[in-house]
Amino acid sequence: MESITIDGKIFTLFLSEDEILKRIEELAKLIAKEYELKNPIFLCVLNGSFYFTAELLKHSLYNYEISFVRVKSYDGLHSANEIKEFIGLENAIENRHVVIVEDIVESGLTTNYLIAKLKEQNPASVSIATLLFKPNKLFHKELPIDFIGFTISDEFVIGFGLDLNNKARNLRDIYQLSEE
Ligand code: IMP
Ligand code: MG
Repeated sequence: MESITIDGKIFTLFLSEDEILKRIEELAKLIAKEYELKNPIFLCVLNGSFYFTAELLKHSLYNYEISFVRVKSYDGLHSANEIKEFIGLENAIENRHVVIVEDIVESGLTTNYLIAKLKEQNPASVSIATLLFKPNKLFHKELPIDFIGFTISDEFVIGFGLDLNNKARNLRDIYQLSEE
């Protein structure tokens, strides 16, 4: 499928499932190298990163711990500039190595908020693995984004977990908003 229309907006194919899966396998290896002996907790940031987290951790031979949190800051095509919802984090993370698994980091607002919450529990370390990264929109430049799948331009993307108004998350490829 070369293009798809969601809520009246046209999106064109941007990253194919093959490319995405190949890159995630590479990231999984990099992460394993650093974390295999550290008994890490992976924190899947719902909803967007459910595909990415599953794919990333599927490659692992180690007994990783996975937890889920939900942080919401986005409305439609635009960042709401404030955190609207935060739930989850039931595991004790004191003295543990935490890897936040995100679908996309844009302004960094969501991840920055999450890190502040985690630090209240004194983890041993916190790092970020994000499938997509939009560097031009990054506001929180000090974030420890150690693992990046793809660095992309500012256009809105959907698929492989990413949504527009909760639609298109299930698409296996990633699509980018076309110029009108
Ligand atoms: P940030 O807080 O500005 O870094 O935005 C992060 C959150 O906004 C992500 O976890 C996504 O849920 C959402 N988001 C940002 N850009 C996009 C996009 O292009 N498509 C879909 N969701 C996005
Ligand atoms: Mg998200």
